[in-house]
Amino acid sequence: MRRKIVAGNWKMNLSFTDAEDLINDLLDTLDEEKPTAEVIICPPYPYLELATDYMEENLFKVGAQNISSFGAGAYTGEVSASMLKSMDVTHCIIGHSERRKYFNEDDKMLTAKVNQALAHQLTPIFCVGESLPEREAGKDKEVVRRQVRHGLFHLDTVEFARVVIAYEPVWAIGTGMTATPEQAKDMHAYIRTLIAERYDEKVAEETMILYGGSCNSENAADLFSQEGIDGGLIGGASLKVDEFISICKQASAK
Ligand code: PGA
Repeated sequence: MRRKIVAGNWKMNLSFTDAEDLINDLLDTLDEEKPTAEVIICPPYPYLELATDYMEENLFKVGAQNISSFGAGAYTGEVSASMLKSMDVTHCIIGHSERRKYFNEDDKMLTAKVNQALAHQLTPIFCVGESLPEREAGKDKEVVRRQVRHGLFHLDTVEFARVVIAYEPVWAIGTGMTATPEQAKDMHAYIRTLIAERYDEKVAEETMILYGGSCNSENAADLFSQEGIDGGLIGGASLKVDEFISICKQASAK
């Protein structure tokens, strides 16, 4: 039985004080509401420790938004998986479309990042998704297939079982244009078919697949009630306590 996950991707937002306020508000509200969904927050690197300090309260887990593809050493500006692990970070977003687009992260680099995460007991939240021209050209599944295969299918069954996938159509990210529940459900089912072909039905059935892209308190219930959608990766709406908690509650209701 897969448990729902709601992960908040704060991206490059908030001052230190705003981050502290948001974490405190989240703690208070999560403590009150106690959603059954697993809640993960992914603040920018300099704020991670603000969040990991509260991990023992068990209200949320903490993820990073990126990791280095290298292990350690002379890589100025990079943050390694082992550093994150040593701060009690549990998850790491890998392959977000903004990293693919603005930082030229390609399949080869993403494979290395996934390997780094797994080698240091971090759970990768591996993002895939097509652009609008790709969808309009009927290439959405081909693109997602390539991303899933290149990023993850080198893993053995045990390794693969530790990965969470996030389907995030690029055209839905930060645009207010959410995928319809049917479009999301269809792509999630397709990803599970790919996993069943590469591994087996049981692995496919057990893989956590989140939806991301303009998910908010208005559309979360519809999305999360679809077969095969195991929760959400939430950007803009994760910066507002009421919105985020409402999404967490809607994930917990199913
Ligand atoms: P959004 O971002 O919810 O603001 O569309 C989602 C994401 O990029 O993970």
